[in-house]
Amino acid sequence: MLKNINPTHTEAWKALTAHFEDAQDLQLSELFASDSERFNKFSANFGDDILLDFSKNLITEETMGKLVALAEQTEVKAAIADLFSGEKINQTEGRAVLHSALRNRSNTPVMVDGEDVMPNVNAVLEKMKAFTARIVDGEWKGYTGKEITDVVNIGIGGSDLGPYMVTEALAPYKTRLNMHFVSNVDGTHIAETLKELNPETTLFLIASKTFTTQETMTNAHSARDWFLATAGDQAHVAKHFAALSTNAQSVSEFGIDTDNMFEFWDWVGGRYSLCSAIGLSISLSIGFDNFVALLDGAHAMDQHFAQAPLEQNLPVILALIGIWYNNFHGAESEAILPYDQYLHRFAAYFQQGNMESNGKCVDRGGNPIDYQTGPIIWGEPGTNGQHAFYQLIHQGTKLIPCDFIAPAISHNPLSDHHPKLMANFFAQTEALAFGKTKEQVEAEFLAAGKTQAEVAELVPFKVFDGNRPTNSILVKQVTPAVLGSLIALYEHKIFTQGVIWNIYSFDQWGVELGKQLANQILPELGGEEAVASHDSSTNGLINAFKQWRQ
Ligand code: F6P
Repeated sequence: MLKNINPTHTEAWKALTAHFEDAQDLQLSELFASDSERFNKFSANFGDDILLDFSKNLITEETMGKLVALAEQTEVKAAIADLFSGEKINQTEGRAVLHSALRNRSNTPVMVDGEDVMPNVNAVLEKMKAFTARIVDGEWKGYTGKEITDVVNIGIGGSDLGPYMVTEALAPYKTRLNMHFVSNVDGTHIAETLKELNPETTLFLIASKTFTTQETMTNAHSARDWFLATAGDQAHVAKHFAALSTNAQSVSEFGIDTDNMFEFWDWVGGRYSLCSAIGLSISLSIGFDNFVALLDGAHAMDQHFAQAPLEQNLPVILALIGIWYNNFHGAESEAILPYDQYLHRFAAYFQQGNMESNGKCVDRGGNPIDYQTGPIIWGEPGTNGQHAFYQLIHQGTKLIPCDFIAPAISHNPLSDHHPKLMANFFAQTEALAFGKTKEQVEAEFLAAGKTQAEVAELVPFKVFDGNRPTNSILVKQVTPAVLGSLIALYEHKIFTQGVIWNIYSFDQWGVELGKQLANQILPELGGEEAVASHDSSTNGLINAFKQWRQ
C-alpha cells in the first residue's frame, strides 16, 4: 500500500527549501561555463535509441542529490514495487494498476487477488492478432462480401486519445486500412466522419472501458443507426461492430456479439489503456507485429523504471526536475514540444495522462493539500509553436519548463526539411537557456548601422534573459519501440510525481460532477417551460437556448 507521507514534512523538502534560497539564482550560462562536463553529467542514454539531455535545467549535482533524497524519503522505491506487483494502489477505487502487465513481454506471472493475469493478457493479444490478420488481409468480409477498408474507433478520453496519438505517430507503418477516430458527442464529429464512408466496408470499434460513457454510447448508437439504414438486417452488425471493453453485459445488450468483444480489466486505467484491447485500432492501423514492438518498447522502459537506481532512473529524473519547478520555482505549467509532425497528438495525450492523474487537491490521508500538485500540460509540434506561443516562453513573465522531443532520422527525408527542422530544435533550447545579452544586442545594432539613440530605444525589447529550462529528448527515429518507451517514460514520470505529492494518481473523481449535472440538465432542455431550478446564470443560459430553438 502506498504510504501517507506529506512530502513537505520530510527532511529532504526542508533541505530543498533551504537550497532553493541560493539555487533560485543559478544561471545556465555560468553553470555551463564553469563545467565542461555538464552535458555528460546531466544526460543519459536509454538503449541505443533515446538520449535524454537534462543539462539545460536550473539544477546542480547538489539539487539532484536533494531531489533524490526527497524520492527516497517519500518511499518511491517501495511504491514502484507496489505498482508492478499488483498491489491495489488505486485505493479509492480498490484496484490494482497494472498497465505494465499488458506489455509484460517477459511473461513472468503478475498476481491480482491470487491469480496470474498473464494468461488472460496473452489470450486477448492472440485474439487481437488473429482479428488484425483477418481484417488487414481482407479475409474478413462485410455483409455484402466486400473487404473492410475503413475502421472507425468510437471512444473518448483514454479510449480515444492514446490510440489516436499512436496511430498518427506511427503513420509511416500503416497497413492498407484507413483509420478514423470519433470522440465528441457533438454530432458534427460522427456526421462528418460518416460522410466519407461506405457501410459495406466500414468496421466500427466501440471503445469504452465502462461501456456506459454518454459520448461513446451516443456515437455508437448513431453509427449503428447509420449502418442499419443501409444494411437493414440487425444480423449484419456482427460483421461491422466490435467492442473493446471490460463490460460484457452492456456490450451484448448493445447488440455486439461477445465473440467480437476484446476484453480488458478493471486494473487497466482508461488513460493507461492503449496497450490493452483499447489498442486494437493501433494494431489494425500498423499491424500486430508493430503493435507488439510498441509493447516491447514500453516493457523495456518498465524494466528500467522497476530496476534502475533512483538517481539513474529516467522517469524519476524527469519527475524530480518537474517537482523542482512546480514546487520550488512556482512554475504552473509544462510544455511538451515534439519536433515531429507525426507526434502532433503527443501533448494532447499526456494532457489527459498527467492532468487527470495528478490534478488532485486531497492527499492520501484524505486531507486538503497546501502545496502544488500536477501542472498544466500543453504543447504543439515544433516548428508551428515557434510562430504561435514561443514568444511568451522566451520573453514572457512566466516560467515554462519545456520538453523538446525530436528524431534524428525522419520518415520523410524530403530535400533539406529535416535538417531545417532540427536546426530549429537545437536553436530553441540554446536560445531559451542562454538568451541574448544587452551587450550582444547593442553590438548587433551598431554593426547594422543604427545610431546610439536608436540603439538605446530598442535594446530593452530585444534582450533575451535566457535561463529558461528545457529537457531535450533526442531519439534515433520514431519507431514503434521508441514510441512505446517514450509513452512509458512519461507514464512513470507522472506516477513518481503522484507518489511524492502523496496523492492518488489513478482515480478521477473530479470528472463526475459535470457528468451528473449534465444528466440532470438534459431532460430540462426539452419542452417550452422556463427553467428555474438552477442559479440565475445557468437558468438564464438554458432559457436563452430554449427560446432560440422555439
Ligand atoms: O473522463 C473520465 C473518463 O473516465 C476517463 O478516465 C476515461 O478515459 C474516459 O472517461 C472514457 O471512459 P470509458 O473508456 O469508460 O468510456
